[in-house]
Amino acid sequence: TTEATRELLLSRIRDVPDYPKPGVLFKDITPLLADPVAFGALTDLFVELCTRHGATKVVGLEARGFILAAPVAVRAGLGFVPVRKAGKLPGATLGQMYELEYGTAEVEIHAEDLSADDRVMVIDDVLATGGTAQASLELIRRTGAQVAGVSVLMELGFLSGRERIRSALAGAPLEAV
Ligand code: PRP
Repeated sequence: TTEATRELLLSRIRDVPDYPKPGVLFKDITPLLADPVAFGALTDLFVELCTRHGATKVVGLEARGFILAAPVAVRAGLGFVPVRKAGKLPGATLGQMYELEYGTAEVEIHAEDLSADDRVMVIDDVLATGGTAQASLELIRRTGAQVAGVSVLMELGFLSGRERIRSALAGAPLEAV
């Protein structure tokens, strides 16, 4: 990433204090999405990572990950596969629960969308606690596919997501812009 591109992308992320609840600093990517130069540059960056890591499929994590991953899949000439919050996919699914600060959540994937031949690039906007990514990596592993990498726009280092997903990455790279 050139420093100018990085600066452009980070300048298009809006910090919203106390949203959705007091004490949380929300990272709003809508200014980036509304700027075609920035959105295009981010897409190019992710496409390059897909190529470098030999991805055969692009997985986007609901919901903002869908927006970022879909154009990457199209530009890279790869299939797009959604990891969804539980209860949204109509076909035969694999599901994975994970721990939240209070309670649990679950994500699902259509089992038939990935196979042992696939190398998967996982794309999302933010890696925070890493719970969503960790569960998604586990789903991918259970389909028999390999993880080519995890690419995010932002990594919130103070939440230690990188450590949480380390073993699920199984040596694959985690890269942030
Ligand atoms: C956010 C974000 C990541 C996830 C990161 O999604 O887009 O997917 O949380 O958090 P974690 O690393 O602590 O798991 P959110 O659950 O808000 O869903 P949304 O994109 O549908 O709003």
